[in-house]
Amino acid sequence: MEEKDVGQSRAGQGTAMELPNESVNEDEVSEFVTLRPKVLDEYIGQTEVIEALSITIQAALQRKEPPDHILFHGPPGLGKTTLAHIVAEEMGVDITTSSGPALERGGDLLGILTHLDKGNVLFIDEIHRLPKVVEEFLYPAMEDFAVDFVFDKGVHARSHRYRLEHFVLIGATTRAGLLSAPLRERFGIFRTLDFYSDQELVEIAKRSAALLDVPIDIDGSYEIARRSRGTPRIANRLLKRVRDYAQVRGSGVIDRETVKQALELEGVDEKGLSILDRKYLKTIIDFYKGGPVGIEAIAATLQEESDTLVDVVEPYLLNTGFLTRTSAGRKVTEKTYHHFGLAMQKGLFDT
Ligand SMILES: Nc1ncnc2c1ncn2[C@@H]1O[C@H](COP(=O)(O)OP(=O)(O)OP(=O)(O)O)[C@@H](O)[C@H]1O
Ligand SMILES: [Mg+2]
Repeated sequence: MEEKDVGQSRAGQGTAMELPNESVNEDEVSEFVTLRPKVLDEYIGQTEVIEALSITIQAALQRKEPPDHILFHGPPGLGKTTLAHIVAEEMGVDITTSSGPALERGGDLLGILTHLDKGNVLFIDEIHRLPKVVEEFLYPAMEDFAVDFVFDKGVHARSHRYRLEHFVLIGATTRAGLLSAPLRERFGIFRTLDFYSDQELVEIAKRSAALLDVPIDIDGSYEIARRSRGTPRIANRLLKRVRDYAQVRGSGVIDRETVKQALELEGVDEKGLSILDRKYLKTIIDFYKGGPVGIEAIAATLQEESDTLVDVVEPYLLNTGFLTRTSAGRKVTEKTYHHFGLAMQKGLFDT
């Protein structure tokens, strides 16, 4: 399997595309090399998604036909990109990656599409941020494996139909609701990833620790798991911070006490809430009497992008009952007050 990253390997060509910096943070690049599962068998959790994918892949391989287009939906860091690479790996095909904001013009997409061979995977991350003009290109490409490209404008306009190979589009999005209906409907397979259970995150922490060659005991892995916001990317990130701490301050082994001390320094509390999570909840309590309050008001008070709050912060808080959403806005719950009340006596929440 060959990996092409359009944002990098083709940057010198006419259809140069830059991946936005935010999507290639350092954390992800180094994780990619070592910690990301490469095949279905290595993948921990999301059992239903994995089973369905495995059937899709086996059926496609038996028929020697590419599978349907696939859309993965779910909060950041749950494994969408990982699964896209796994599908390509299991199918034994090349994968080309790009992202919604990187594809500014129809021509950008055309350049990529015409380079795809039969069965190749095109992975488009943040597909909900694809500009409308590019999205319209994608409709016939996905459905009929052809695109009509119009050169020039006005009286000189001429159209050329490009035939494409039968490629597989894999899209990833944190906000399925922002996808237009015509685009959503062209995906034969639509899978939502859910937050991971503590047990699954224990397995992930143990697996990553083994790959990083750092000793961890069962209590240590459990302590990391329950502070990871149900998210493998966070589990891996915390593990690396704890590894540093264990190496410098501890005995080298990751145990419960090391995790506690290390993550207190990172501002992660025992429920896994980050500094931003707590600021968000405290804002609703302190400024809006616990809510209900609209997202824009919270964003303005916090001086954060409302998109960040909706994509990154809220899903986990909603999932764990620290937050509810009503037609009148966001509200914190009794659990939230309880969490802060108890915790404030311990002096852990000075944000
Ligand atoms: N099931 C898993 N088992 C072990 N590690 C995992 C698993 N799923 C994800 N990871 C780890 O978590 C990291 C984040 O996963 P990934 O990049 O696929 O998330 P994502 O859903 O694409 O996030 P984003 O929306 O931010 O792009 C990966 O680098 C990988 O190391
Ligand atoms: Mg991703």
